[in-house]
Amino acid sequence: MGGDNTKKTVLSPVKTCFLLVSFLCVLPLSLFSGWLQGFLKGINNSTFYNYSTSGNVTILLWYWPFNRSFSLRGDVCWDLYRIPRCRLVDTRSWYVSADVVVFHNRELMLRQQKLPLDLPRPQGQRWAWMSLESPANNGNLRQYANIFNMTISYRRDADVSIPYGEFLPKESKEHRVEDIPLNKSSLVCWVVSNYRELHKRSEVYRKLRAIVPVNVYGQWNKRPLSSDSLLPTISHCYFYLAFENSVAKDYITEKLWRNAYKSGTVPVVLGPPLSNYRAMTPPNSFIHVDEFASVIELGQYLQKLAQDNKRYAKYFNWKKLWEVKLYKDWRERLCRICLQFDTLAQHKVYSDLKAWVNAPT
Ligand SMILES: *[C@@H]1O[C@H](CO)[C@@H](O)[C@H](O)[C@H]1NC(C)=O
Ligand SMILES: *[C@@H]1O[C@H](CO)[C@@H](O)[C@H](O)[C@H]1NC(C)=O
Ligand SMILES: *[C@@H]1O[C@H](CO)[C@@H](O)[C@H](O)[C@H]1NC(C)=O
Ligand SMILES: *[C@@H]1O[C@H](CO)[C@@H](O)[C@H](O)[C@H]1NC(C)=O
Ligand SMILES: *[C@@H]1O[C@H](CO)[C@@H](O)[C@H](O)[C@H]1NC(C)=O
Ligand SMILES: *[C@@H]1O[C@H](CO)[C@@H](O)[C@H](O)[C@H]1NC(C)=O
Repeated sequence: MGGDNTKKTVLSPVKTCFLLVSFLCVLPLSLFSGWLQGFLKGINNSTFYNYSTSGNVTILLWYWPFNRSFSLRGDVCWDLYRIPRCRLVDTRSWYVSADVVVFHNRELMLRQQKLPLDLPRPQGQRWAWMSLESPANNGNLRQYANIFNMTISYRRDADVSIPYGEFLPKESKEHRVEDIPLNKSSLVCWVVSNYRELHKRSEVYRKLRAIVPVNVYGQWNKRPLSSDSLLPTISHCYFYLAFENSVAKDYITEKLWRNAYKSGTVPVVLGPPLSNYRAMTPPNSFIHVDEFASVIELGQYLQKLAQDNKRYAKYFNWKKLWEVKLYKDWRERLCRICLQFDTLAQHKVYSDLKAWVNAPT
């Protein structure tokens, strides 16, 4: 029997092992719950946050623009764009620790999405208003006074500026003028789907058409171009009318960056003022409607230029030094927030977003 007693008091190796493991589990668990309490307290007491120590900037996209989502798997900003320490997420449970929460204007405007105004805002968190539309297409912004801390837009003076495209210094050192597509069959081309009589661009088109032939493609003229045939078609034109549908500060869209610069034609631009274009493009890379006293003079200039190959070729000299970079993927745009994150003001509130958006050109 004594043997039985001994057996009861002395722990079997199995039991010892079990207790040891339990101890090892309970200790970290209690430490963890302490940390968790501190963490939860920290959420209410916002001094908890310190981004410079966390090492990562967390960008939370509240919903996808146009309801079209893309994969955020892996370290997406690094894997796709070589932007480090940038965590891009679209899961709302990240809200409490997000540095920036991004709201795309279109879905708010269409009332498909709402701002989470009932959620307490962690201190230091910034709400970003994002839109790539011109002011005329942003709806009524009066209701958004004192809500947003930053703007993401094509505007150069936005907190995070994401143009439709930009010039980057050419990477390859061989400065070779690329072949200028000289197999031209049209003088002036225009692609327009949404023709409105009252648009400034329509007025200029009507006047220009009276002087030189204008080859019109697109929905309006019942000559739609598929996305594959757009650039090859435009490449056969000496000039392409990169006419914006809205005249607004910095509003220069893919009509210039992609349709014109990527197709090997010379853009004739209508949009913000000449100075605006000059600030964003190299010299001699476009012709601005405002450079001429009248549309008649513009038309005559185009006609002469097309007959002078040497002078015409000068409009492609920028290709020696520059290349055009297009921004098309929302993920790249969002990752770029991280690049500009450290330059953002500590505290900023858009007390009148409507006025900011409608800034004069
Ligand atoms: C928040 O935390 C800080 C530092 O941990 C502390 O000094 C402060 O009193 C706390 N404030 C509240 C309201 O809990
Ligand atoms: C955040 O962390 C940095 C780096 O450790 C430190 O210098 C700074 O004082 C901290 N800020 C706050 C508000 O605790
Ligand atoms: C967005 O897309 C999802 C899935 O494709 C769909 O279930 C949802 O109804 C869409 N929402 C809107 C507002 O269109
Ligand atoms: C920062 O974010 C990236 C991307 O989500 C992640 O892979 C990495 O582990 C994070 N680093 C830290 C220190 O949290
Ligand atoms: C020039 O373009 C026309 C179509 O506009 C095409 O038929 C012709 O083959 C082209 N010529 C050369 C040399 O590329
Ligand atoms: C962001 O805006 C809100 C609402 O106006 C404001 O309370 C908060 O202090 C702002 N945060 C920053 C970091 O500017």
